[in-house]
Amino acid sequence: MSILKITGGRRLDGSLRVQGAKNSTLPLLAASVLTEGLSVFRNCPRLTDVAATVRILRHVGCRVYEEGDALYVDASGPISPEVPDALMRQMRSSVIFLGALLSRCGEASLCLPGGCELGPRPVDLHLLALRTLGAEVTEAGGRLCCRAARLKGGRIDLPSPSVGATENAMLAAVLAEGSTVITGAAREPELLDLQDYLRSCGALVTGAGSGVIRICGAEKLRGGEKRILPDRIAAATWLAACAAAGGRVRLYDACPQHMAPVLHALRRMGCAVSTGENLIVLERRGDLLSPGPIVTRPHPGFPTDAQPPLMAASLKAAGTTVMIETVFESRYRHVPALRSMGADISAAGKTAVIRGVKTLHGGDVTASDLRGGAALAIAALSAEGETVLRGMEHVDRGYEDMAEALTALGGEVSLRKE
Ligand code: EPU
Repeated sequence: MSILKITGGRRLDGSLRVQGAKNSTLPLLAASVLTEGLSVFRNCPRLTDVAATVRILRHVGCRVYEEGDALYVDASGPISPEVPDALMRQMRSSVIFLGALLSRCGEASLCLPGGCELGPRPVDLHLLALRTLGAEVTEAGGRLCCRAARLKGGRIDLPSPSVGATENAMLAAVLAEGSTVITGAAREPELLDLQDYLRSCGALVTGAGSGVIRICGAEKLRGGEKRILPDRIAAATWLAACAAAGGRVRLYDACPQHMAPVLHALRRMGCAVSTGENLIVLERRGDLLSPGPIVTRPHPGFPTDAQPPLMAASLKAAGTTVMIETVFESRYRHVPALRSMGADISAAGKTAVIRGVKTLHGGDVTASDLRGGAALAIAALSAEGETVLRGMEHVDRGYEDMAEALTALGGEVSLRKE
């Protein structure tokens, strides 16, 4: 177990490279089992969730090796359709293997990801997509079994734009017989990364990012390649940290086009934000203002994953900030810890109301989930005194090395292993 110690009150000043996107890497790695060849993914972030995905790939029969920031996956050998429960439970997004293994092997057997820190994580939309393409789905003893000798293309109408269900639908459709249209698809940039990779493997896919994805099934896919896009949520976290602590940060290898609602909110808070090609610079000199109401929505709306960091940046902003979380049920679990540091927040149901305070103080707090942990680190940077942040195993799922990143930005941060 590791503990982050943060001494607050220092302005940030520094430059940082944005890591590759976690939420692009995980489905891309799962997609590689569809191919009968060698795939290479560059700009892979070093995260515990990526390591857990690699363990699943190795278990099902892929050879995986790394070289610098590249991961090579050789899926040319026989692939097993079964993922043991222990591996599935290491990472909630492992449900993405359902579509990939079903497509490749004609069957898939894995346990349900279950509820999690953010509330219930149902998979009904994933199953709707697979059943529409002809999969027979049975559930017994907490395990899901999907079968189909060969899936058949069809029209999948998603009633809400689930990212994971869209990914599973794409993975199932690329090797199905005939054409598939996915309507109501998620439009997150990570879907475009998946489309690009699948195309590099020879798949015929268009429309990712538009809400309507069209796929013409192929008999076989070859290995492909992809450079993973920058992590917009990690970038939002570092910008929110600078907004909270004051100072100036320069993020390179960033993708400002994917971050419009977050950059807009930071500007409304009084930060000067400028963007260039792959570059974002944020400067905060004066007092912070409330960003105004923030309502989380699927892309291109305000991302739910950036809500906790923005909440942390709003704690000392003048006025009242209202946040409405519409994507996940339990996304305010970091609120009690923020309150213990002097924040004035009330949260009930989907709504959180933050009344700006003059000062925050350090505390001994524990991350309850990934982005909630990031929020606590941000609050600590703008608090007086020292904060001990526990539960770093949640944070390590999505940030390459938070201590190193915050230190590079000028924060007084150290990591202690216990
Ligand atoms: N939902 C259903 N039924 C389903 C699938 C989803 O009701 O079959 C609901 C979920 O319960 C949730 C909403 O739909 O309320 C959105 O879920 P979605 O499927 O879009 O999310 P996801 O694929 O499980 C990914 C990211 C999350 C991110 C969300 C939303 C990955 C690995 N995870 O999750 O990332 O918050 O999309 O953008 O891509 C994070 O990085 O911290 C994180 C949680």
